[in-house]
Amino acid sequence: MIDVSYETDYGKMIYGKCEEVLPKLSQYKFDLIFTSPPFPLNRAKSYGNMTGDQYLKWISNIAIQLKEMLAERGSIVIEIGNAWNKGEPTHSTLPMEALLEFKRRGEFYLCQEFIYYNPAKLPSPIEWVNKKRIRVKDSFTRIWWLSNVPLPKADNRNVLEEYSCQMNKLLKSGKYNAGKRPSEYNVGKTSFAKNNGGSIPSNVIIAPNTVSSDKYIKFCKENSYDIHPARMPKEVPSFFIKMLTDENDFVLDPFAGSNTTGWIADELKRKWISIEAEQKYILGSKGRFNIK
Ligand SMILES: C[S@@+](CC[C@H](N)C(=O)[O-])C[C@H]1O[C@@H](n2cnc3c(N)ncnc32)[C@H](O)[C@@H]1O
Repeated sequence: MIDVSYETDYGKMIYGKCEEVLPKLSQYKFDLIFTSPPFPLNRAKSYGNMTGDQYLKWISNIAIQLKEMLAERGSIVIEIGNAWNKGEPTHSTLPMEALLEFKRRGEFYLCQEFIYYNPAKLPSPIEWVNKKRIRVKDSFTRIWWLSNVPLPKADNRNVLEEYSCQMNKLLKSGKYNAGKRPSEYNVGKTSFAKNNGGSIPSNVIIAPNTVSSDKYIKFCKENSYDIHPARMPKEVPSFFIKMLTDENDFVLDPFAGSNTTGWIADELKRKWISIEAEQKYILGSKGRFNIK
């Protein structure tokens, strides 16, 4: 039986471990699976992280399960946070190994690697960055966009950014310095002086994770619910949902936490299913949908 904690017109939040819930959702195919699994750590955090080989084995089994749930031209977008080795100023390779293992066991194509850069990230690890001053701030994580096919559904016109002032001036004047660049790249007049509605974004997503008093936090505080310690800024799922899905497509987050993914999918009129193993985080996530 599936334990649905709450529902909206577009989606539902399911309580349970995704390994156990996913086989019960075999009737669904998802256009996008967007997720940030618990990251590998050398000591357990408050949401039950595994370590080392145990983590690699677990995450690769999840890849096999998720592969089956993708629509024909669907995508999986997975973020794995960074980790440091215990007691020394060295970076763990486990998050990178986990991404590779996930891709290998799921036999996925890597469509593109993205970086999520949080310019407001607090200095960490404190011991090496703040106290000994021998490392700098660790402020980005890797996001891999994977698929069963090399050509999943995608449209970068859905995530265009505003043109810079300089570009707007240029479009107005039409005076573009066409020709060869030092890189040997030949810039044509027509392609660059044309207004395409915005500039094509890069694969670095910049989103300061600084929100300290939004609707979600207020709701958690008012009801004395736990505030999730590893919430994703909404800009990240929003980017991928817009680029890789259309309205009424289906989005899954098997490690939903505070349900940032379901919330943004809902706002963007996509159907969604989220799964979370900790009841305490599901409670707070209701506040995103004004559900008591
Ligand atoms: C990195 S957090 C996700 C945060 C989320 N993206 C957000 O914005 O709030 C990972 C979540 O996975 C949950 N989790 C851990 N193991 C799980 C499992 N086996 N099945 C489902 N959820 C699990 C944890 O409780 C945690 O909330």
